[in-house]
Amino acid sequence: MPNDLLKGKKGIIFGALNEMSIAWKVAEKSYEQGAEFLLTNTPVSMRLGTIDELAAKCNTEVIPADATSDEDLENLVIKAVEKYGKLDFVLHSIGMSPNVRKKLTYDNLNYDFYHKTLDISALSFHKVIAILKKHDAMKEWGSIVALSYVAAQRTLYGYNDMADAKALLESIARSFGYIYGREKKVRINTISQSPTLTTAGSGVKGIDGLMDFTDRMSPLGNATAEECADYCITLFSDLTKKVTMQNLYHDGGFSSMGMSLKAMTQYEKSFDSPDGD
Ligand SMILES: NC(=O)c1ccc[n+]([C@@H]2O[C@H](COP(=O)([O-])OP(=O)(O)OC[C@H]3O[C@@H](n4cnc5c(N)ncnc54)[C@H](O)[C@@H]3O)[C@@H](O)[C@H]2O)c1
Repeated sequence: MPNDLLKGKKGIIFGALNEMSIAWKVAEKSYEQGAEFLLTNTPVSMRLGTIDELAAKCNTEVIPADATSDEDLENLVIKAVEKYGKLDFVLHSIGMSPNVRKKLTYDNLNYDFYHKTLDISALSFHKVIAILKKHDAMKEWGSIVALSYVAAQRTLYGYNDMADAKALLESIARSFGYIYGREKKVRINTISQSPTLTTAGSGVKGIDGLMDFTDRMSPLGNATAEECADYCITLFSDLTKKVTMQNLYHDGGFSSMGMSLKAMTQYEKSFDSPDGD
């Protein structure tokens, strides 16, 4: 649906690993809408994934950066500004928990891993914004977006220390959104996306059951990665200039549900079974 919503806009997209990645879809749609951008990921993810294919498709290049490294981020931002001048949009689509990977439960976390979870999945957002600001790299009315999950507000089995990282991520959007908005009119938001089958998503314990549950509980059903990318485009565009410091749910209504008709019917059925009481 190309209609030049981002024509002339320049940006950086973090976090495209492979074609399942939400950032991959955002890159494809941003390109379709006329944007130009750099792609970035860690050197390891660049080797393991297929980001070079995406770069070729979007007529751009990949600048490696570990989002926890000030040095890498400085290099990336300097290169982006050299190439494009000031930027209109930045997507932070980064998440990783070594505790989830190692299947350690929340009551038995490894604290070194916990630090890594917070560093990669949340503090990196602060660093990205701080380095953009230090280099005065964003245009007025520019837009910075990160991806979050409802586990920041509500407890969902298996999401583990990523829930804490998302709570911090959303708070950073508010705290920095105030400062960057006040000083430079840059907006900062998080999108709280439905569970989505990606490499990071597949790491969450019971992801299939969770996706089925949220899909049935949401009046509009789960939002796909493509739909999430569409929402990101609106936030990068000039159509949302006064939206900032928000955590925006993009989840088919799940976050506002308590009990649905489907869930009630299923719940009542469970009492009809011979073991129900
Ligand atoms: N998949 C879901 O169910 C879901 C739901 C809500 C929010 N999100 C969020 O969406 C974002 C993107 O995840 P995804 O689902 O597309 O999975 P994904 O695995 O495709 O993307 C995660 C990305 O983080 C990158 N990354 C990890 N460590 C990094 C580091 N140190 N520096 C730079 N990049 C690093 C990975 O290389 C990868 O590209 C994450 O913030 C995730 O928490 C995902």
